[in-house]
Amino acid sequence: MIKPSVSRRAFTAFTAATAAVSMTTRKPAVAETAMMTRPIPSSGEPLPVIGLGTSSSFIVDRADTAGMEQRKAVIQTLIDNGGSLIDTAPSYRGSEGVVGDLVKDLGVGDQTFLATKVQKEGEADGLQELNGSFDILRSDTIDLIQVHNLVDTDRKLGTMREWRESGRYRYIGITHWRPGAQEDLAPVMDEENIDFVQFQYNIEERSAEASLLPMAAERGIATLINVPFGRGRLFQQTDGKVIPEWVEEFAETWGQFYLKFILSHPAVTCIIPATNKPHHMADNASAGIGRLPDAKERLRMIEFVENI
Ligand SMILES: NC(=O)c1ccc[n+]([C@@H]2O[C@H](COP(=O)([O-])OP(=O)(O)OC[C@H]3O[C@@H](n4cnc5c(N)ncnc54)[C@H](OP(=O)(O)O)[C@@H]3O)[C@@H](O)[C@H]2O)c1
Repeated sequence: MIKPSVSRRAFTAFTAATAAVSMTTRKPAVAETAMMTRPIPSSGEPLPVIGLGTSSSFIVDRADTAGMEQRKAVIQTLIDNGGSLIDTAPSYRGSEGVVGDLVKDLGVGDQTFLATKVQKEGEADGLQELNGSFDILRSDTIDLIQVHNLVDTDRKLGTMREWRESGRYRYIGITHWRPGAQEDLAPVMDEENIDFVQFQYNIEERSAEASLLPMAAERGIATLINVPFGRGRLFQQTDGKVIPEWVEEFAETWGQFYLKFILSHPAVTCIIPATNKPHHMADNASAGIGRLPDAKERLRMIEFVENI
């Protein structure tokens, strides 16, 4: 359970930070061309705000040369546009291996921030899965390991903490797939020493604003935002619709519209939209540049989407 005092303090921090974001992003002194970063609270390390998800978009037969080349171009586009974080998992039907192979082929291991997960229950199977990711990602160190969907959390966090101490992991965290996963994630955020929490937040699914986002800010936990486009559903409702003129001040495409809405929440550290198309990756990366909507514009965006 979240303590009420935390929510109140967090709310104050949220409104102050929102004001700060609005003030600092409204009129940049110089033209912004680089993707913005936000600090990982536990270390201060700056993390580019747009990453890449791979759960379905990187499921490809490795014998499919054209399919592999296409995904290679997606990763190269992420890097070329200042991004670094790639989120994968052993359970994403081969995607983890595709990421490992392509990062090695491209020689961009030192420019990527690789995040994977563990989901297998039990001591032996869990350790096998955790150890397997080092081989699959072809690295002695993994940037971020996450307990996938909170399976076997206590046991997995114990091992993760040990391996973070020994330098095998740089950061540890937890994830959930369910919208509004507050009751599942909050107790772990409250009690455990974790660096990252990953959950769903988008312009339609905003329940994280009430608790998970302020709680992460209060506890100093970095947030990774999954399902930013509602698994692509959000594009169906704006398909064929022209971006309104008032939005053009900060977003030129619907992809940027949806991502900038998320980024304008100050407790968001990094978003991981999935794509297998280089031009969509470039579009998503553009959302990490330039000004963000202010509090008034955020409300107008919500109203717009609700009335489509
Ligand atoms: N429990 C967990 O830990 C958990 C749960 C869910 C998700 N995740 C992570 O979060 C990532 C993202 O979530 P998601 O994959 O479910 O869905 P998503 O990112 O909300 O949506 C992906 C869809 O959006 C489309 N798309 C992406 N960029 C676009 C653009 N600029 N313009 C138009 N269409 C665009 C993609 O199609 P194209 O391929 O055609 O671009 C794809 O169909 C996952 O891949 C995974 O890494 C983790």
